[in-house]
Amino acid sequence: HPALAVSRAALLPPPGGPGDAAGQALPVESRPFTSYGSALHIALPQAPRAGQLLTLLIDYEVGEGPGVCWLSPEQTAGKQKPYMYTQGQAVLNRSFFPCFDTPSVKFTYSATVKVPEGFTAVMSATSWEKQKDNTFVFKMSQPIPSYLVALVVGDIVSADVGPRSRVWAEPCLIEAAKKEYDGVIEEFLVVGEKLFGPYVWGRYDILFMPPSFPFGGMENPCLTFVTPCLLAGDRSLVDVIIHEISHSWFGNLVTNATWGEFWLNEGFTMYAQRRISTEVYGLPYTCLEAATGRALLRQHMDATGEDHPLNKLRVVIEPGVNPDDTYNETPYEKGYCFVSYLAHLVGNQSKFDAFLQAYVNRFKFQSITADDTLGFFLEYFPELKEKGVDSIPGFEFDRWLNTPGWPPYLPDLSPGQQLMRPAEELAELWAADSLNMEAIEAVDIMGWRTYQLVYFLDQVLQKSPLPEGNVKRLSKMYPKISKAQNAELRLRWCQIVLKNNLEAEYSKVKDFLHSQGKQKYTLPLYRAMWGGSEAARALAMETFSATAPQLHVNVQNYVKKILGL
Ligand code: BES
Ligand code: ZN
Repeated sequence: HPALAVSRAALLPPPGGPGDAAGQALPVESRPFTSYGSALHIALPQAPRAGQLLTLLIDYEVGEGPGVCWLSPEQTAGKQKPYMYTQGQAVLNRSFFPCFDTPSVKFTYSATVKVPEGFTAVMSATSWEKQKDNTFVFKMSQPIPSYLVALVVGDIVSADVGPRSRVWAEPCLIEAAKKEYDGVIEEFLVVGEKLFGPYVWGRYDILFMPPSFPFGGMENPCLTFVTPCLLAGDRSLVDVIIHEISHSWFGNLVTNATWGEFWLNEGFTMYAQRRISTEVYGLPYTCLEAATGRALLRQHMDATGEDHPLNKLRVVIEPGVNPDDTYNETPYEKGYCFVSYLAHLVGNQSKFDAFLQAYVNRFKFQSITADDTLGFFLEYFPELKEKGVDSIPGFEFDRWLNTPGWPPYLPDLSPGQQLMRPAEELAELWAADSLNMEAIEAVDIMGWRTYQLVYFLDQVLQKSPLPEGNVKRLSKMYPKISKAQNAELRLRWCQIVLKNNLEAEYSKVKDFLHSQGKQKYTLPLYRAMWGGSEAARALAMETFSATAPQLHVNVQNYVKKILGL
C-alpha cells in the first residue's frame, strides 16, 4: 500500500544455521495492482524448492493509512490524550504491515509494541506481557487471516467481567462498560461452546472504541472491538456482543476464502447469534430481533432493486474492485435465511446443531468456499443428498448462491408475534388520517423492550410520510422514543424525522451524526437527507463539513459519493 514505505527486504539464514544475521539484502519493487493496494515483489536469489521454509525480513515504516487510524484527543471520549487503532477487515491491513492480505491465507504472529509513557497497547492476541520501557509483547498462537490482526494504543484501562473476560475502555467509560456487561459474557461463551464446540481463543475481552469507530462490533480474536453506542445502560444492544462471540467459530475459525463469499462468515454468524440468543433469551425475543434484521434486508433490496448483482450470496468481485465497496445486508440476512433453510431441510434442531459443530471441527483454521460448506452438508446428511435437496425447483443451492433477489425461503418468525403484533397495531393507529387517540393512549409502551420499539419505528418508517401532524404528535407523546439516548432508537427516529420532513427536529439528526460515526447509522441518514428536501440537503452538507475529519476514511468516502462530492 502507498502508506507503507518498505526500505529493505532480506533473506535470513535458516534458523540455527550459519550466515549473516542481518540477512542477504534482496531487490524490492512495488508493482501496480489496484487503487487500494499494490503488489510488493521481492526477488529471491534462486527459485525455492516446493515446501522450503524461507524467512524474509522486511523493514518498513507506516504513518497515516486507511487501516491505521490516528485520533486527536478531541476525537476520544476523555479528550485528554491521542489514540490509535487499526481496522483490517476487509482489505485495509495491507496499509498496516506487508502481508498476504487475503482471507485465504492464515498465519500466527507476534509483535513488540513500544508506546509513549501513559499509554497502553492491546492486540488481537493469545497472550500479552508488559515489559520495561513501555514495551508490550504479544503473541497470537493460532493461525488467523490478515484481517484479524488488530492493535490499539491509547489511554485505556480494564475491568474484569467474567472468568475469561474483561472490558477495556478509556478511564471515563470503564465504569459504564463494566456495568453494561458484568457477569453476562460467560453465559454466551458457555452456550456457544455447548452448541458449536470448544472456544479455542483463550480469552474473550471487549474493547470499547472511540465514537468514530465505523462498526457496531469487529470480531478481532481474543479482543472484540465495539462502538461505545453499545453503552445503553440496560444491556439492550447485547445482540452485537453475541454476534461477535459467534464469529469465534464462524469467521475466525472457519473463514471465507474470498470476500465474494462473505455470507459464509456473516450468514452463519447471524444464525449462530440467533441460536445463542434463543437459548439465553427465548424464541419470541429472538424472532423479534430477527424480524428487525429482515426489515433491514427489505429496505436494502427496495433501495437497490432485488435484481442487483450484490443481492446474491456469491458475489462476483471483479479484479480491482474493493471488496469493502460490496458491503450490504445480503450476506447477513439472506445468508441467515439460507442457513435456516438448511436447518429446515434437516428438520431437527439438535441434528442441525450437531452438523454445525461437525462443520466447525472439519474446517477449523481453514479458509473455505461455499462449495466446501455445501459439499460437507450433503456428505453429513447422505439421505438428503440422495433425495436431491440441492436441486429442489425454486430452492436450488445454485439459485441461493447465484441468483440475486429476495430469499426463496424465510424462517418462521411467528413465535415473535406476541411481541410484534402490538407494535404493528400501534403503527397502524399512528398511520391513520384521523388519529384515534383513545386507542393510542390505551397502549402503554413504557414496558416495551428496546427491540419492540425498534420494530414499531421500522413500521412507522415504512408507512411514512404519515398524514400531516401525526409525527409531531407522536414525538410529543413518546419522549422515550423522540428523546432516546439508545443509538438504535435514535437512528430510527432520525430516519422518521427526515422521511416526514419534520424540520423542527433536524437538530436531532445533526446531534446524532456528531456523536458517533458508525457506518450503518451514518450512510442511511445521509442517503435520506440527500433524497429529501432542500433543507435536508443543506443539513447534510453542513453536517458533513463539520464531522468529516472525525469519520473513518472509508465512511468519509461513502458519504462523499452519496453527496456527489
Ligand atoms: N465483521 C463485521 C464488521 C465488518 C464487516 C467490518 C465488513 C469490516 C468489513 C462484524 O462482525 C459485524 O457484522 N458487525 C455488525 C454487528 C451486527 C450485525 C450485530 C455491525 O457492525 O453492525
Ligand atoms: Zn459479523
